[in-house]
Amino acid sequence: MSSVDELTLPFAWYSDERTLRAERAKIFARSWQYGGRAEQVADPGSFLATEAGGIPILVVRDREGELRAFLNVCRHRGAVLTEGAGRRETIQCHYHAWTYDLDGSLRAAPRSDREPEFDKAEWSLIPARADTWGPFLFVNPDPEAASLLEYLGDLPEILARDIDIDALVFHSRVEFGSDANWKVVVENFLECYHCPTAHPSFSAAVDVNPDRYLLEAHPTFSAQYCQARGTGERGQFHLIYPNTDINVFPGPPNLSIGPTLANGPGRTERYLDYFFGPDVDEGWLREFFELDEQVGREDTALVESVHRGMASGMLDRGRLLLSSEPLLAAFQRWVEARLAG
Ligand code: FES
Ligand SMILES: [Fe+2]
Repeated sequence: MSSVDELTLPFAWYSDERTLRAERAKIFARSWQYGGRAEQVADPGSFLATEAGGIPILVVRDREGELRAFLNVCRHRGAVLTEGAGRRETIQCHYHAWTYDLDGSLRAAPRSDREPEFDKAEWSLIPARADTWGPFLFVNPDPEAASLLEYLGDLPEILARDIDIDALVFHSRVEFGSDANWKVVVENFLECYHCPTAHPSFSAAVDVNPDRYLLEAHPTFSAQYCQARGTGERGQFHLIYPNTDINVFPGPPNLSIGPTLANGPGRTERYLDYFFGPDVDEGWLREFFELDEQVGREDTALVESVHRGMASGMLDRGRLLLSSEPLLAAFQRWVEARLAG
């Protein structure tokens, strides 16, 4: 007999639209998620349109220098207000030109003066949260959420053992995706049990022996620690629940960070923002991206295969190996608790 912990979540939760709607309301609408780079909203008047698990979020630095976030959805008829990033005096909807101040208040709505009962004060943008951690910008649709720093717990200190995030320089953003449920993609990230079989080049560079590739579950994130074969240089891989990955490979200062975004139950869009130390060697960088892309291709094939197998609808659940997949068990319990709450 298997205990509940050893069983995976029901496979049906990975391909069904109802589960995704519940996840949007109970998980993505209430969690801190990576939304871009802090420097994109450093100056007064700057804005960034981003998202938190499918929920459009607008981040602005107002004229007084305060960082604010709103749902990026027009109060008139629900258009996504604005795209991209830049500087603005006001935010104007591209549909009927309702215009909002950087503090979210509705400043002008054309022809609203012809409406006897129209009160602008009732139609401000809906507030959300944004906060920065070093060079990283996080967003949370929940205006009542606990602070980002509180949510991150021990993670900043853990990361600081191997890398100084404030000394990193942004290099590039890489976008990719896969035909798989977002949880399949996250769970694939949470174990290196598949590394010896599926990632020969990664496993040649990194010691994937379970006694030296270490896994650690924390309340709001999961940590994985590795060492390079030969040099013993250290790396760390983290998932900030529910969907933000952080990767630090052994070697010169490097870090990639980004969200796993559900685009329907069977499709996942991702991006990673890559940061490196200021004087990173070009040759090393080429090899780094080659290995990273290779591992990425291998993982895409894996998660798409898992998604097809689960979506066949013929099996109810799978069976975890708790010594190798404890981080999946922890993540699945976290998801289950949120959906039940
Ligand atoms: S939907 Fe934005 S002004 Fe009409
Ligand atoms: Fe992998």
